[in-house]
Amino acid sequence: METILDAPFMVELIRTTTNMYDHGWDERNGGNISLLVDEEELARYLDVSHPLRSIPTGFDAPTLDGRCFLVTGTGKYFKNVQYDPENNLGVIRVTDSGRTAELLWGYADGGSFTSELPAHLMSHAVRLAENPANRVIMHCHPANLLAMTFVHDLDERAFTRTLWQMCTECMIVFPDGIGVLPWMLCGTNEIGEATAEKMRRSRLVVWGQHGIYGAGADLDETFGLIETAEKAAEIYLKIAQMPILQTITDDELREIADWFHVTPREGYLDLA
Ligand code: 13P
Ligand code: ZN
Repeated sequence: METILDAPFMVELIRTTTNMYDHGWDERNGGNISLLVDEEELARYLDVSHPLRSIPTGFDAPTLDGRCFLVTGTGKYFKNVQYDPENNLGVIRVTDSGRTAELLWGYADGGSFTSELPAHLMSHAVRLAENPANRVIMHCHPANLLAMTFVHDLDERAFTRTLWQMCTECMIVFPDGIGVLPWMLCGTNEIGEATAEKMRRSRLVVWGQHGIYGAGADLDETFGLIETAEKAAEIYLKIAQMPILQTITDDELREIADWFHVTPREGYLDLA
């Protein structure tokens, strides 16, 4: 049997956690990732018929029964994942209408999946219903987006429009906009439900004074989504205190959308 440490999905996830740490998005144990992996693929590396242990999740996710995920561990540091994947990561299979996670590999020191599993699995369920190719939910704490939640109106139309205006690429990368939640207690089912609800409409969700969630078909795409929004937030913070002499107009945002064949979130552009 091949070693799971050489599996392409494992190599890519480890590279991604390292890259996110290097971007300064994941201080200490900040951030978490869940990646949907097909059980048939896992069976090339693991004996999937013998779970190591079962861990209660504390919530329901009936549409995910039988689905397997590679998930970062709670309290684990992204900077360490590359050196010790088996302690910092785990592979789980969701069973029992989502109430139980069977551990197939990892969390070798007795650890467990991220405390944000409710937001991850509830968001996976919603995104899979929208797009069966969705595989990734990613959470991190990028400084500029986080800072923006202190000084910008948290209305998500206003927040989205500001980001769209900061770089031409934003409309192309996230025409569906960005959902915004006010500060809420993290790690709870409530913030998980609220995040998943926002994920129905947009693949990015900001948590006020905390961080961001992104969803996508693969790790690269999801990383790029967050990276683009974070760049826009950085530009906003650089210019917010200066007189603005020109910006990207709504007509120009529409022009970008038409040229790149993307559909802006309905009602988010003011058109003459
Ligand atoms: P975990 O260490 O449980 O993944 O939590 C980190 C985090 O970012 C909480 O929002
Ligand atoms: Zn967090």
